[in-house]
Amino acid sequence: MKIAILTGASGGIGRACATRLADDGWQLMLVGRRTTPLAELASRLPGHHEVVAGNLNEASTRTAIVERLTALDWAPSLLINNAGVNQLSFLGDCDEAEIEAQLTTNLIAPILLTRALLPLMARPGQIVNIGSALGAIGHPGYSIYGASKAGMRLFSQALDRELGDDNIRVGWLAPRATHTTMNNEAAQAMQKALGTRVDAPDVVAQALMTHLKRPCTERFIGQPEGFFARLNSFLPDLVRGSLIKQLPIIRRFTHPA
Ligand SMILES: NC(=O)c1ccc[n+]([C@@H]2O[C@H](COP(=O)([O-])OP(=O)(O)OC[C@H]3O[C@@H](n4cnc5c(N)ncnc54)[C@H](OP(=O)(O)O)[C@@H]3O)[C@@H](O)[C@H]2O)c1
Repeated sequence: MKIAILTGASGGIGRACATRLADDGWQLMLVGRRTTPLAELASRLPGHHEVVAGNLNEASTRTAIVERLTALDWAPSLLINNAGVNQLSFLGDCDEAEIEAQLTTNLIAPILLTRALLPLMARPGQIVNIGSALGAIGHPGYSIYGASKAGMRLFSQALDRELGDDNIRVGWLAPRATHTTMNNEAAQAMQKALGTRVDAPDVVAQALMTHLKRPCTERFIGQPEGFFARLNSFLPDLVRGSLIKQLPIIRRFTHPA
């Protein structure tokens, strides 16, 4: 039995991944904050799937996942840390609570969940952390989001090496902009003005399925974002120059008149 835990299953990318995984014969534990969309999703997928609704930033939700797995006698061979939040905002405009919430959801909670689930996971196993191109390319308006995704990028790489003799692979799968409600109206308008390419959620789900078959340390989805991510690591000042030229456009959406 192939068992996977998918967080953020009720979101745009989560639903697409759940569909691809269920079609591939995976039995899923679907995790998100809201019960109704998770239950609806579980009922329309082929196979039998479990739902755990709760805020992953709270220890009680992470404990509930562990307890449900134990009660079901499930040993997952796949954990997908996909739940995330994003706020387009310059640093000075973010309040402390919003900064903490973003870092907790995108970085601390998935690390704590991974730590809690590792002892229960089957070997061979895989952990896939959903990153973002914005975790490799510092972009104005996304300093907190970028910090959280970059943090997960190095967490993934280090843990993958730490588990190198434990038959668990950890990968960081980085989508570019994707059509989901995560991008609010301002973010979508900015993407349009900047000419950003935006993928359908199923593009990410397909990349996930490829990643499961051919795991690697990190995988970027789409070009030229993948190329710019590499370029940014070698020549950050070159990329800085082109992003700074776009600041007037970006400000139209972060600071509307
Ligand atoms: N959309 C993009 O442009 C894009 C690009 C690159 C990477 N990504 C990454 O892809 C992943 C999925 O994003 P998406 O676009 O599918 O976003 P989405 O549609 O907004 O879905 C986010 C999901 O995360 C869940 N979630 C958020 N905070 C949570 C918390 N504290 N506890 C439990 N669940 C929580 C939400 O649950 P509820 O619905 O119950 O609130 C929802 O299922 C994220 O990690 C995101 O950073 C997205």
